[in-house]
Amino acid sequence: MSEMGRRLGQSKLTVGPIAYGLWRFTGDDVSAASTRIEAAIDSGITLVDVAAVYGLDWGGSSFGESEALLGKVFAATPGVRQNMVLATKFGIIPGVPYDSSANAVVQSCEDSLKRLHTDVIDLFQVHRPDVLTHPAELAAALTSLRSQGKIREAGVSNYGAQQTALLQKFLPFPLTTTQPEFSALAIAPVFDGTLDHAIAHDLTPLAWSPLGGGRLAKGSTNDERVSRVVTKLDELADRDGVSRAAVALAFIICHPATPIPIIGTRNPARIAAAAHALRVNLSRADWYGIVAASQGAPMP
Ligand SMILES: NC(=O)c1ccc[n+]([C@@H]2O[C@H](COP(=O)([O-])OP(=O)(O)OC[C@H]3O[C@@H](n4cnc5c(N)ncnc54)[C@H](OP(=O)(O)O)[C@@H]3O)[C@@H](O)[C@H]2O)c1
Repeated sequence: MSEMGRRLGQSKLTVGPIAYGLWRFTGDDVSAASTRIEAAIDSGITLVDVAAVYGLDWGGSSFGESEALLGKVFAATPGVRQNMVLATKFGIIPGVPYDSSANAVVQSCEDSLKRLHTDVIDLFQVHRPDVLTHPAELAAALTSLRSQGKIREAGVSNYGAQQTALLQKFLPFPLTTTQPEFSALAIAPVFDGTLDHAIAHDLTPLAWSPLGGGRLAKGSTNDERVSRVVTKLDELADRDGVSRAAVALAFIICHPATPIPIIGTRNPARIAAAAHALRVNLSRADWYGIVAASQGAPMP
């Protein structure tokens, strides 16, 4: 990747323009897991995004499984942990389903540190809003963890701009990231204030499911909307001699909030190929054309 070392929010953490996500990182094959993490680091990816709850989908069977697998990679491959910005999330508990109360946040942090075999989490994110926790309580828990050196920075995920501002109001340090679903199939953050708020407050957006969870990459579908977007992406990909996935990632990267797509492939060659997105130049007409395909109507 070319543009290395951009700042994450207002923090001292530096990251590459693409991140790697571990939602689909399950099982106990530490060697295959290490290969994926090393493929990411070798291609200039520095931010790795996991969550306490990851492991209950994609062939996994237990809460914490993805963090535990990453912890085994750290234990087996010295140096890997030091070469990455480690981001995890707390606050989703199946059956509850959201808990960001102070006790739950502190307990989740302790549990994640143990599973990850590390003594600090670089970026600790609220996975989804728990509207039953007063933001002052959540802010106090995050501030305490940060002052103890257990987390370096904090971020939010699936928060609206107002919810982010409300949490920020009670924090003595700036939030670093906001993580919405954002892709050519999920364009709401462009229009609902999420990316505007990120620009205004110097938060780095992390875009989850940047290929629509694979729907944009796989292409074949009975969904009319997906077909329309895929047709538009293919037109641009053919013109520029790049893959459809590269155009889909470029669509995210070139927004002025400079979001970082969190790719989720388990295929090392596809992890490496994500960097091709950095060579794609989309014009205004290209970009708005993708938005129009996504919303099924021309721009007003
Ligand atoms: N905050 C949240 O609430 C939230 C929610 C969801 C996800 N996330 C984050 O976002 C990350 C990425 O999400 P995601 O995994 O849905 O991302 P994604 O990159 O949109 O989708 C990944 C899926 O696409 C498939 N794929 C990728 N390239 C392909 C290609 N060229 N051909 C065919 N299939 C292809 C992958 O299969 P292969 O493995 O076979 O390549 C994988 O199943 C997660 O790991 C997590 O960190 C966050």
